[in-house]
Amino acid sequence: MAEHLVKFDTSAAPVSVPSGTLITEAAVQAGVDINQPCGGQGRCGRCAVQINAGNVRRRSVLRLSQTDIKSGYALACQSVVEGDVEISVPPQEKIERRLTTDRVVAEVRAPHGYNPTLAQTITRIPLSITPPDIDDQSDDWSRVQTVLRQQAGLNEVVVSIETLRTIGNALRAGDWQVTAVVDNVTWDCPGCPARLIDLIPGHIPADEPLWGVAIDIGTTTVSLLLVDLLTGEVRAQVAEYNGQIARGEDVISRIIYAAKDGGSRHLQQMVLETIEELIDRASKRIKIKPTDISKATISGNSTMIHLLLGIPAESIRLTPFVTAVNHVPSLTAAEVGIGIHPNGTVDCLPGVASYVGADITAGVLSSGLDDTKSLTLFMDVGTNGETVLGSQEWLVTCACSAGPAFEGAGVMHGMRATKGAIEEVWINGYTLEPTYRVIGGGKPRGVCGSGLISLLAEMFMTGVVDKAGRLNLSSESERIRGGSHGREYVVAWGTETQDGKDIVITHVDIDNLLRAKAAIYAGFSVLAKSVGVPLESVEQVLIGGSFGKYINVEKAIQIGLLPDMPWDKYKFLGNTSVLGAYYGLLGKDMRNRISEIAQKMTYIELSADNTFYDAFMSAMFLPHTDLTNFPTVAGALPATSPDRRKEG
Ligand code: FES
Repeated sequence: MAEHLVKFDTSAAPVSVPSGTLITEAAVQAGVDINQPCGGQGRCGRCAVQINAGNVRRRSVLRLSQTDIKSGYALACQSVVEGDVEISVPPQEKIERRLTTDRVVAEVRAPHGYNPTLAQTITRIPLSITPPDIDDQSDDWSRVQTVLRQQAGLNEVVVSIETLRTIGNALRAGDWQVTAVVDNVTWDCPGCPARLIDLIPGHIPADEPLWGVAIDIGTTTVSLLLVDLLTGEVRAQVAEYNGQIARGEDVISRIIYAAKDGGSRHLQQMVLETIEELIDRASKRIKIKPTDISKATISGNSTMIHLLLGIPAESIRLTPFVTAVNHVPSLTAAEVGIGIHPNGTVDCLPGVASYVGADITAGVLSSGLDDTKSLTLFMDVGTNGETVLGSQEWLVTCACSAGPAFEGAGVMHGMRATKGAIEEVWINGYTLEPTYRVIGGGKPRGVCGSGLISLLAEMFMTGVVDKAGRLNLSSESERIRGGSHGREYVVAWGTETQDGKDIVITHVDIDNLLRAKAAIYAGFSVLAKSVGVPLESVEQVLIGGSFGKYINVEKAIQIGLLPDMPWDKYKFLGNTSVLGAYYGLLGKDMRNRISEIAQKMTYIELSADNTFYDAFMSAMFLPHTDLTNFPTVAGALPATSPDRRKEG
């Protein structure tokens, strides 16, 4: 096959690739980073590059305008090289950290009466070993085993080859006084032997901290708590965007990218790098070495856990939607590639199904849902709306694909909740002029998820859009107009924005938002119906997930994303997944509870439920086809509202 030279303006030397190679593949070979927010499906249009010279064949130009194509733009994930080419790569979207990003949880405390001696599986045991002599030539490892049996009652202890390589030196460096770090229980095998993690020269003082980390791998953000296992105290908390974002903004895009040649390995490396950076940052903050950490407990949705472990995730998105594994056996850090002590334990919390993962079982634990008598709805609002309904007696769960609209993807001027994002909007009911608040202040760049909810609610309540989400073109406001992508509302004029272009919300964006909110509403209403529980009898609604923190309840009810209930029933809990990982890290009782939650939850597959489609279609309106479900919204609509008039 003919070879062609591809030269990127951001790399020094051209690379030679066979004819028909995708530009994204050539970029990888050249070491050039091109973001692929939809995982290379040709849906997002954000991998566009400019062809300065030479030939490429565009397989798809979706999301490119005729002007873009005339100017030489091509989608890097959809265009193949058919001759020598020179390519300009526009500046890649910088993934900035949210201002308060290192604060993962507001407050976290060990459970009342936490006793590491009883609860903790990781223990540190001082050992005094009898040195060998000419009359006692038994080997080093046998001596350690004997003393662990005699002094700690551990009848059987296994050791890895890496630790075996170090014990001889440790024994002699400590003059036969050593400290053994042992993991005494694994969740997949309760009666199995204990495992020696490390043998450290000398006796470490009993009150010296013993370190562990609780990690939540979110599709967007990875959060980590560094914990002293002896006291349960969180000594550092750090968070960073998941490095995989550049290869897909939602789980489906990541799964599709992972299925490409080398994609799975690439995504695994990306998340491991993010975790390594977080471990480094947290360790430096309290002046320890990453290898001082003996245990990591990991939570995350099922796709994130599969990608972390390099397990093919394709079956998660294909009928009948099954995971490769819900209960991952206990692993070592070396096996996973996580930069704590190589023999440290890595415990991935159990999930329930493809779209109800460990983040939800962890969330149920940390929210106390499995321990309450009150009928409770727990929701994690994101690209997948996961919902759990129940109490200490029973738990049912479902997940619906809301799509990434609330993450700002699939919306023309949508963006993540970073500096420059509009996060709250108010529209004057008479003039239809908006005011807005921007994260970090200054000029806006786009609108994030909470801003989109706020914007849509304000547009509905002021009559900019009707119940079906249609823009009111009969209005005299110059902000409602026909644009190059159809009808749109101008949120910010170009004179106010960072790039000088108008920030608009189009009718296609509104449709995507309606679909996202309808899927979530239909999910929990079908779930409630499946167990014969009217939504009105729900006593509390707990919202987990970092996105939940920023939702304005009033506006979320106005668009019909959340059920119309008194606001005091709502509690926003923040990152319940990392909190669940924290409790799981702390000991046997909590960790057992998470396993019990996973076993106890009954999963309802919505795609097999024939009432879901009807519920979804009914929820495709603002706030809902049936306004009687939303009495406070109906009451707040202006008397002049066409929707109000229609309702009579
Ligand atoms: S269109 Fe190429 S990555 Fe989305």
